[in-house]
Amino acid sequence: DEALIAISKRPKAELHLHFEGAAPPSFIRGLAKEKNVDLSGIFREDGSYDYRDFVHFLSVYEAATSVLKTPEDFARLCTAVLEQSAANGVVYSETFLSPDFCGGGDVGAWREYLAAIREAADHAERTMGVTLRGIVTCIRHFGPEQAKSAALCAAETADDWLVGFGMAGDENKGKQRDFAYSFDMAREAGLKLTSHAGEWRGPQEVREAVDDLRVDRIGHGVRSIGDLAVVDMLAEKQVTLEVCPGSNVFLGVYGSLAEHPIDQLRKRGVKVTVSTDDPPFFHTTMEKEYGDLARCFNWDASVFDDLTRNAIDAAFCDDQTRETIA
Ligand code: ADE
Ligand code: ZN
Repeated sequence: DEALIAISKRPKAELHLHFEGAAPPSFIRGLAKEKNVDLSGIFREDGSYDYRDFVHFLSVYEAATSVLKTPEDFARLCTAVLEQSAANGVVYSETFLSPDFCGGGDVGAWREYLAAIREAADHAERTMGVTLRGIVTCIRHFGPEQAKSAALCAAETADDWLVGFGMAGDENKGKQRDFAYSFDMAREAGLKLTSHAGEWRGPQEVREAVDDLRVDRIGHGVRSIGDLAVVDMLAEKQVTLEVCPGSNVFLGVYGSLAEHPIDQLRKRGVKVTVSTDDPPFFHTTMEKEYGDLARCFNWDASVFDDLTRNAIDAAFCDDQTRETIA
């Protein structure tokens, strides 16, 4: 009804968006065709991405990413991604960028990719009214050594646009603390920190991200609900969760949105925010997330005000930018 539509149309801030994971399948198919790469194996007949489970999702994601080769390809992707964000009323977004896919961890090459992405983002800000900031992301299943190259890229390019360092990838590989060297390097360069934790593994993983990597935010973190002491620690330390409900339901972390703990976490005082993660992979958009949450949990506008406030407060941008989006 009209109240739901009004909620889904509100201005939004999104903190958890994988850059390559936001690529529309049509965009990836177009690049594959241009470059004569056969990617037919990763698409369903209806054109959407095809994968069986989370680990297979990660490999389909990497296959899709393989057609993104030049800085210009990434600049085009940036425009395509921000068109989607703007169409969903997103006014501020932070996106995970991986040097592993942009020059293979070489700092010189990374600078060129970053410059191209940033130029496209600046243009989108002027023409579409959506502000983007970057978080360099290491990939857990690529291991701690490769993470150090990503952290070095991050540390060398930290500025008012490249504002954070994080970790994504397969949570069942290795430990948070294996990546402490990289997170320390990023922190010393002035970057804010976030790590995927408690999407697949339990509350202890979330505690380790906070204790061992000293992160400012947690990617997902939803499974902290299994230990209320961890939930209370997050509330007390005001560690913000980048919650991606549609992603969690699509990948089977929860059987349905009604079973998702976001409302319990919020009611227990945890700062929660809402993001899409990899929207075309999970058949979601920010408008859909908002509409689904409003319907499922009977949230009114004041709850969405809180979510937006939480996202703006926990954004990694400088305070001047924060004021312009507030
Ligand atoms: N990379 C892209 N999406 C991811 C997710 N949901 N979890 C971990 N790594 C990811
Ligand atoms: Zn993610």
